[in-house]
Amino acid sequence: MEKVLIEKLDHQGRGIGKLNNKIIFVENTLPKEIVNVEITLEKKNYYEGKVIEFIKKNKNRNNIKCPYFNECGGCDLLHISYNNQLQFKQNKVIDILKKYSNIDDIEFKVKLIIPSENIFNYRNKVTFQVVNDIGFYKKKSYQLIPISECFLITKDMNEILNLIKQNLELKNINKVVIKDMKNCQVMLTIYLHNSKEIDRIIKIFQNKVCSLNIYIENKLYKTINKSNIIAKLNNFNFLVSSDSFFQVNLNQTVKLYDKVLEYSSLNFDDFVLDLYCGTGTIGIYLSKYCKRVLGVEINKEAIKNANENKKLNNISNIQFMVGDTKDIIKKVKDKPDIIIVDPPRSGLNISVINDIKKLKSRKLIYVSCDPITLSRDLSLLKDSYEIKEITPIDMFPNTAHVECVALLKLKDIENK
Ligand SMILES: C[S@@+](CC[C@H](N)C(=O)[O-])C[C@H]1O[C@@H](n2cnc3c(N)ncnc32)[C@H](O)[C@@H]1O
Repeated sequence: MEKVLIEKLDHQGRGIGKLNNKIIFVENTLPKEIVNVEITLEKKNYYEGKVIEFIKKNKNRNNIKCPYFNECGGCDLLHISYNNQLQFKQNKVIDILKKYSNIDDIEFKVKLIIPSENIFNYRNKVTFQVVNDIGFYKKKSYQLIPISECFLITKDMNEILNLIKQNLELKNINKVVIKDMKNCQVMLTIYLHNSKEIDRIIKIFQNKVCSLNIYIENKLYKTINKSNIIAKLNNFNFLVSSDSFFQVNLNQTVKLYDKVLEYSSLNFDDFVLDLYCGTGTIGIYLSKYCKRVLGVEINKEAIKNANENKKLNNISNIQFMVGDTKDIIKKVKDKPDIIIVDPPRSGLNISVINDIKKLKSRKLIYVSCDPITLSRDLSLLKDSYEIKEITPIDMFPNTAHVECVALLKLKDIENK
């Protein structure tokens, strides 16, 4: 056992101390805490350790009620008060932008993080793995941690988890995905190895969920009740299917899209290009304030939903194209006034960045779930676009993840 003084937190929320002239990372610790640790990993430049005993605790430490904390790989920050979590995320965004964006005074462009009203039961989607029991994989491993309740998902999702646990032969199940968009819009998708449990699944769940999808060996076998559920965001209704992307925190999504709308400051004759549009949500949200929107998305199912969402919300000035952004952007003939990008964690492809610069839209709004790839991409865009401001949004309380929305303005326009 080794005694360690924790000096600060890393970007994943792990405590950092020093041991034998190396850095040591220890989960579930806070600055100023003194802990006895067991070394779990030794590398050339660093160690990883696990707390065996707290010698001195930080007085701001949160009481952790979840029995799976540090085990299930979900929450990183449950031991930190919510105000301190927000401060941690604010500092994380600033640190990463300063380190990787190569832009002078970038820290002054970062606005105050937008907090979440609910810090528990906010997730509208969960994936449970099944290996003899049902739960989550331990961080960086395929070891299953059996779960009976998760604090981040809704009450209905926890109830379904326990019905599965108590009533089904888990050895026949591979994976379970539950989506809950509130107002009884619950979807259960069960991935089976074989057909043995089907009748039982239908009997238990057909009157409990709005949409029940059963897959056998990754092929859709049967859909019972509806094939989609509906998520309500302000006055809009959006279809959510079993395999297309939807933001995981409904209340915060409204704040995220409102920020995109504010940053767009649209004119009624504007053409908006919505890249990585998913089920068309951002474009539809903006469509009544501009002339037209073109959404681009690689997932065919998402585009099917996007077209249905267009009808559902009585929108006529939006079109969608299915394909890879890096190919479709080359086919865009009219100059967009505003470009919105909301790429996956990997950020923008360099050819997409070059094509965005060629299109010379008045504004570029970048929605990002990874401040590191956002920083890299801002540094590549900064010769053509001035970074005006960046707003972090807490979409994922109790985890170290943070969403950001960045507003960029074309430099030519500024200089005229
Ligand atoms: C973070 S999600 C954003 C979706 C949407 N803007 C929203 O708010 O729900 C990223 C989306 O990009 C899509 N995507 C991933 N790679 C892509 C690519 N190369 N070209 C186009 N779309 C892509 C994914 O399928 C996913 O729907």
